[in-house]
Amino acid sequence: MTLKVKNICCIGAGYVGGPTMTVLANYCPDIHINVIDKNKDRINAWNDEDLSKLPIYEPGLKELIKKCRGRNIFFTTKVKESISKADMIFISVNTPTKEKGVGAGQASDLKWIEASAREIAKYSKDNAIIIEKSTLPVKTAETIKEILDASQRKLQDRKKFFVLSNPEFLAEGNAINDLEYPDRVLIGGDNEFAIQALIDIYSRWVDPKKIITTNLWSSELSKLCANAFLAQRISSINSISALCERTGADINEVSKAIGTDSRIGSKFLNAGVGFGGSCFKKDILNLIYISNFYGLKEVAKYWEQVLKINHWQAKRLSTIVVEKLFGTITDKKIAILGFSFKANTNDTRESPAIEICNSLIEEGAKLSIYDPKVNREQIEKDLNLKENKEFNFHSGIGSWQFSNNISSASKNADAILILTEWAEFMNINWSEVSTKMRPPSWVFDLRNVVNIEEAKEYGIKTWRVGFEEPNK
Ligand code: UDX
Ligand code: UDX
Repeated sequence: MTLKVKNICCIGAGYVGGPTMTVLANYCPDIHINVIDKNKDRINAWNDEDLSKLPIYEPGLKELIKKCRGRNIFFTTKVKESISKADMIFISVNTPTKEKGVGAGQASDLKWIEASAREIAKYSKDNAIIIEKSTLPVKTAETIKEILDASQRKLQDRKKFFVLSNPEFLAEGNAINDLEYPDRVLIGGDNEFAIQALIDIYSRWVDPKKIITTNLWSSELSKLCANAFLAQRISSINSISALCERTGADINEVSKAIGTDSRIGSKFLNAGVGFGGSCFKKDILNLIYISNFYGLKEVAKYWEQVLKINHWQAKRLSTIVVEKLFGTITDKKIAILGFSFKANTNDTRESPAIEICNSLIEEGAKLSIYDPKVNREQIEKDLNLKENKEFNFHSGIGSWQFSNNISSASKNADAILILTEWAEFMNINWSEVSTKMRPPSWVFDLRNVVNIEEAKEYGIKTWRVGFEEPNK
């Protein structure tokens, strides 16, 4: 038996579904791809003539959309039609942490996965290949299979489905590159024909040696582990950053020295404000939940510590800012440079900037926030606080306003905080910025990206994460 794939449907046009299907469309011009989403506005944005209005920002995405949209990739809200034609269906819906009920605060909420499985059961054709793209708790494939089977009452007419796990490993801001040149493609499943059908697609652009096949549970668990291991490195280096600040060791030198050991490797050793993004925290919480579920309390506690250090780092850095500014930031203006959870994305989910800004606002600071890609509405939503266009510097009440550039954000500011490693912040014109700030002016480089020596030359006091304090 061979399963030939001519038509694909992807449920979920988000940060994962959108770029993944666009790259697939580019390499498989003979395959018709429908990307569906229940959010009509999102679909409209994917279809906007003006490519700067695409719902997500990823370097290289615009160009591929221009080439493939309307050729073999289509963004639509037509659920029934798209599912019923598909030979292969990717599930790429979001799986946030549960807010209530059993497992609240830790387990993933699978309601969208369940809803997708029910729609697939209703509309899809026989022998459809169902692919879990979303990051899911181990054993979710079992749930999907159960829903698919149970939704069909008459045994004799039951449609057949093949469920595979094919987790994504793309990092936002580098998604197109990660999809085009993946370190590996992971496919978990138990049906060799379905697995082969997916291998046939990927091998059009990925070296077959990089395609790893495993059983379903290994694939699901590997995805959680990959993210947990990456997050663990960040918590490890952030814990060491605090030690560097006390001992006079230099965090960049330490990262380099340990990263050159080929067993350790150099990536993911940048100290900073802590990790954000939609995945790391959620996936570790998931790991903690399943470890507890299986009675492995020590394992759960081990991974909990990675999250605790991450939260501690953001809190500790906010406290340092307050201490340096003479113990109070009430009615002081602070320029926040960077709000997204990392550079080259407009995504702010779980961004450490949210926690840091909230705690500074609580202390009464006036924040002027600039990010090259995050807009005013998003910041308002994340901080859960309306923008205050005119600061009243005598109110004692913390507030924030949006800035369009570094220059306006730093006007009359007592301090600048670098929260995201955008390239623009590596080349700040300190001669200009220093004249705009109110002395004694500070820059807190919480990502270690700015040209700190130049800032110092212009009389700015500096503090960097993982470095002994120079102005003691
Ligand atoms: C993905 C993965 O799927 C998630 O498991 C992983 O941990 C993070 O990345 P992402 O693409 O980032 O999620 O999420 P999001 O940008 O929120 O996109 C999901 C889309 O699915 C949304 O546009 C939402 O409207 C859509 N959706 C959700 C549906 O179309 N139908 C549903 O039933 C539920
Ligand atoms: C991550 C995984 O890398 C990807 O494989 C998975 O599919 C989804 O989750 P993403 O969250 O998009 O991707 O970005 P990533 O580059 O991993 O960064 C995550 C967070 O860690 C960011 O907040 C980033 O700033 C931070 N980080 C990363 C550090 O603080 N230091 C580092 O050295 C690296």
